[in-house]
Amino acid sequence: MSRAEPSHLFYQTGRRRPILDQARGVYMWDVDGKRYLDGSSGAMVCNIGHSNPRVLEAMRKQMEKSTFGYRLHFETEPAERLAAKTALLAPEGLEKVFFVSGGSEAVESAIKLARQNAIASGDAARYKVISREPSYHGCTLGALALTGYTPLTAPFDPMMRPMPKIPAPRAYLDGLDPDDQATGHYYADMLEDRILAEGPETVLAFIVEPVGGASTGALVPPKGYMQRIRKICTRYGVLLIHDEVMSGGGRTGKFFAAEHWNVDPDILVISKGFAAGYVPLGAMVARNDIVANVLDAGGFLHGFTYAGNPLACAAGLAVLEEIEREDLCRNAAEIGVLLKSELKKLMDRYSIIGDVRGEGLLLAFELVEDKAAQRPLPKELNAFNLLVDIAYENGLIIYSRRTRGGYNGDHFLVAPPMISTADHVAEIIEGLDLSLRQFLDRISQQQAKAS
Ligand SMILES: Cc1ncc(COP(=O)(O)O)c(C=O)c1O
Repeated sequence: MSRAEPSHLFYQTGRRRPILDQARGVYMWDVDGKRYLDGSSGAMVCNIGHSNPRVLEAMRKQMEKSTFGYRLHFETEPAERLAAKTALLAPEGLEKVFFVSGGSEAVESAIKLARQNAIASGDAARYKVISREPSYHGCTLGALALTGYTPLTAPFDPMMRPMPKIPAPRAYLDGLDPDDQATGHYYADMLEDRILAEGPETVLAFIVEPVGGASTGALVPPKGYMQRIRKICTRYGVLLIHDEVMSGGGRTGKFFAAEHWNVDPDILVISKGFAAGYVPLGAMVARNDIVANVLDAGGFLHGFTYAGNPLACAAGLAVLEEIEREDLCRNAAEIGVLLKSELKKLMDRYSIIGDVRGEGLLLAFELVEDKAAQRPLPKELNAFNLLVDIAYENGLIIYSRRTRGGYNGDHFLVAPPMISTADHVAEIIEGLDLSLRQFLDRISQQQAKAS
């Protein structure tokens, strides 16, 4: 096979990656036999590890029965069973499950359901969805309008209706104590201020990643934040949407990350860990009365061809069963504590690590030039790419993004599958240690050349 002219990755400029041969558990192999530890579960997707035999068997069985049944023509057993199981995992009163094929589709579904609910309730003036900056909610135009990450959104601004943003509660950058309730209230009150500034009668919803994903690098909200935004949303009749596309599915140590704060949303969305990369799958789960309201008013004007695909649902069901059978939420919590403490030890040894954060196995570290001032490394170093590439050469996959507005700063997600063991943690830390040393050597060589 010639690799000269990629056809399906035409939009991915710059580096090429090797061809994947196979993947098992936390490891992946390229066609040359080189092994990689999947330290970011792909894009925080493969939560139960690769090629789980029980999930493959469930998929095989379903494939032999049917791989597609259009939802207007048939109900299917896997879809119904997965919906019932998802409803049991979701907060009480959120029992209506709408299947989609990915995170962006789930977010689109949530905001459209919210909008139809407002119209059905005589609140047609409500259309604004407040979100945070930075945040990531998807790449389709509706979800992109909520995304707070200018490099991705700016070219499409004229095609989207601008949606209000409030700052994400990045206490560590603002020099505030995340364990102080006053900090949580300080950031949460920005939501109230924004609702009042916009006019409460125009605000439809607030969407939040309970534990942040790629855009903030696993940001954990400060104490009191999640409870306070819940109260504020209720006070103004604004629907609270939890975007658990990345944080849902057990990776933070609870099936839904918001369980850490005992806060229930009105609508939630889940995708990546839901079918853990075995098939494209996601879901929107909504309060029963919201769904009833929309159905009574004539029905939900929305839906995707692949919704509730039986093969996808059979895979999703097998993934959820595997999470339960192997108690993987507990393992993510326990191994997450170990991994986080090992990352903190690296921070003690490397002055360029300015912050380690996250919950369970949704963890990240951030590189800085000056830890006290949290001043980022010079942008031209492209540290976010360089360290990922060095780690990749060393057989360790991690995931990075620019921290400050998407233009500056470098953070790295370390989020291995929930089946990881203490040995895997040791291997990840060894790989990071080696990669950080090589990274420092490379940048001092670059600086020597420049001077
Ligand atoms: C929090 C969050 N929401 C939505 C999305 C969009 O999901 P997808 O890429 O499956 O459309 C992502 C993807 O990274 C995400 O992390």
